[in-house]
Amino acid sequence: MNTLIVIALTILVIVLLHKQIKQHPYVFYGLACAMFVAFVLGQLFYLPKAVNVFFMTPMRRATIAMGIFFVVMYAGLFTKPSRAKRLLKPMRKELSIIAGILAFAHVYAYNFNYFTRIFVDKLNPLISFKLALFTGVILTILLILLWLTSFNFIKRKMTRQRWKAIQKWSYLFYALIFVHVLAILMQPALSGGREAQITIALYSLIFIIYFVARIAVYKRDKREHIEEDDAYAKDLEKGFI
Ligand code: HEM
Repeated sequence: MNTLIVIALTILVIVLLHKQIKQHPYVFYGLACAMFVAFVLGQLFYLPKAVNVFFMTPMRRATIAMGIFFVVMYAGLFTKPSRAKRLLKPMRKELSIIAGILAFAHVYAYNFNYFTRIFVDKLNPLISFKLALFTGVILTILLILLWLTSFNFIKRKMTRQRWKAIQKWSYLFYALIFVHVLAILMQPALSGGREAQITIALYSLIFIIYFVARIAVYKRDKREHIEEDDAYAKDLEKGFI
């Protein structure tokens, strides 16, 4: 149940602070970095249960990062002028950068000790486990690529075509997160793990609705000749790049 509560709280904070996130992004980037450092240091000490439940575990499991990524994903569905589009679309870049910083805490928590197990782990020969780790590595490469190209100082050095081509990889990123979560949690869920069952059900609902809606919006926009928003051209216009 914690996964649902943490994701709901994350989305609520984004909606309540959407103006501040857009006006003062570096304050929130700093806050995300502070949360990353607190997580790294937090692993060195014994912490009260509440801190573990509402901070350390959501950071380790990338749940806060996923809550933010879900807003970035669903904001992309609003291609026609609407209140939701005006509220969510302008802050996708800033949210992607914040979510990236928080997702690095998960990669930090699991990388080396799990990564090496891909090759040497006789303990867990499960294909699903190896698939989870393999997708974890691909996800990390995509996360670094999409995260870096979200910054204006990097975007400025790229052609619009090259930048837009790279942003399209975000669909593969989202799809691989779903595969990664299914691969890593299927075993515990099948063995009756309640938290794993709830997490799989919740993520399946969010990802399947998103991909079905994304394809439907794409077909509708093609039919109605609705141009996709050009974030690169917009930033160029505003002099950000
Ligand atoms: C080398 C890189 C990675 C490794 C070794 C890795 C490993 C793991 C492991 C072991 C779990 C199970 C955690 C648990 O049940 O407590 C997990 C879960 C998960 N991973 Fe990764 N991961 C990697 C990269 C990523 C990336 C880049 C993302 C996305 C930004 C991601 C998203 C998730 C999510 C959403 C879960 C589900 C957590 C839950 O709620 O139970 N992982 N990963």
